[in-house]
Amino acid sequence: MEYFIGKSNKIKEIKDYAQKISNSPSPLLIYGETGTGKEVLVKYIHDIGNRRAKPLISQNCAAVPSNLLESILFGTVRGAFTEALDKKGIFEMANGGILYLDELNSMPIELQGKLLRVLEDGVVRRIGDLKEVKVDVRVIASTNVEPEICIEKGLLRRDLFYRLSVFYIQLPELKERKEDIIELCDYFINAFNRKFNKNILGISQEALEFFYNYDWPGNIRELRNVIEAIMNIKDEGFITPKDLPHYIKREHKGLEELVSEYEKRLIKEALALYNGNVSKAANFLKIPRQTLQYKIKKLGI
Ligand SMILES: Nc1ncnc2c1ncn2[C@@H]1O[C@H](COP(=O)(O)OP(=O)(O)OP(=O)(O)O)[C@@H](O)[C@H]1O
Ligand SMILES: [Mg+2]
Repeated sequence: MEYFIGKSNKIKEIKDYAQKISNSPSPLLIYGETGTGKEVLVKYIHDIGNRRAKPLISQNCAAVPSNLLESILFGTVRGAFTEALDKKGIFEMANGGILYLDELNSMPIELQGKLLRVLEDGVVRRIGDLKEVKVDVRVIASTNVEPEICIEKGLLRRDLFYRLSVFYIQLPELKERKEDIIELCDYFINAFNRKFNKNILGISQEALEFFYNYDWPGNIRELRNVIEAIMNIKDEGFITPKDLPHYIKREHKGLEELVSEYEKRLIKEALALYNGNVSKAANFLKIPRQTLQYKIKKLGI
């Protein structure tokens, strides 16, 4: 079983909520950027819920050509089209369990209409078939773009969104819950110690500081990959700054530096506005002329 790691308030809230909804048959919509743990969350819900003895089937809606997706979902009967065979769709295969539709916003709009009907009626019909089969499937769907934006862009049907978001979870980005980094590091270090048969003891405080300063655009997957890369090379001891890739060690700017950069920009703009006339620029910035003169020198403008 894969663990759903995190002790931050945001993750605690999500775990509590997941617990509460784990036994419900109603749909769930998850929104989270890439690598934030959508699939991990779905597995967690399957593991703790009353459908755990039944299948969890995952389908990435962007991974297959759109005309194929329909037959994957609903199945086919022999002769429905050339080469069509009698074949169950994943709705039927997931019967009693959970069907996870990842990157729902990549599903063609017409197919979203058919999906909505299946959710409303609880029956599927294989392509080319006349008879309907009753299915009991809990659908969990996810998007890696905010659902409202998907709807605006015409990538997600609003009625389907309402149907699916009976329960809704937004997974935070890693940079919004940096307090979980240390636990995630320990978890991945343990996992790769076992997998690679290594003996890494942990991560040094200095290395951790770099992790805290970094933004993690690839979220938890990126953190995991960084640790995996390090542990391919390193055998023992603590992970220290010299083990980290350069892009993570980029100099981090403090408040003072950020403020003076901003100040410099505002002064340059004011000077440009008055063709370099210091008195007028000072007047505009509401500071004495001498103060501006001093700042121009100090900031090297
Ligand atoms: N809370 C977590 N605890 C432990 N590992 C996690 C957690 N969240 C994510 N991971 C790890 O990060 C990686 C990415 O997670 P996952 O595949 O669930 O992300 P995702 O949101 O589905 O990403 P994508 O949108 O790219 O499909 C996985 O390898 C998983 O091991
Ligand atoms: Mg995923």
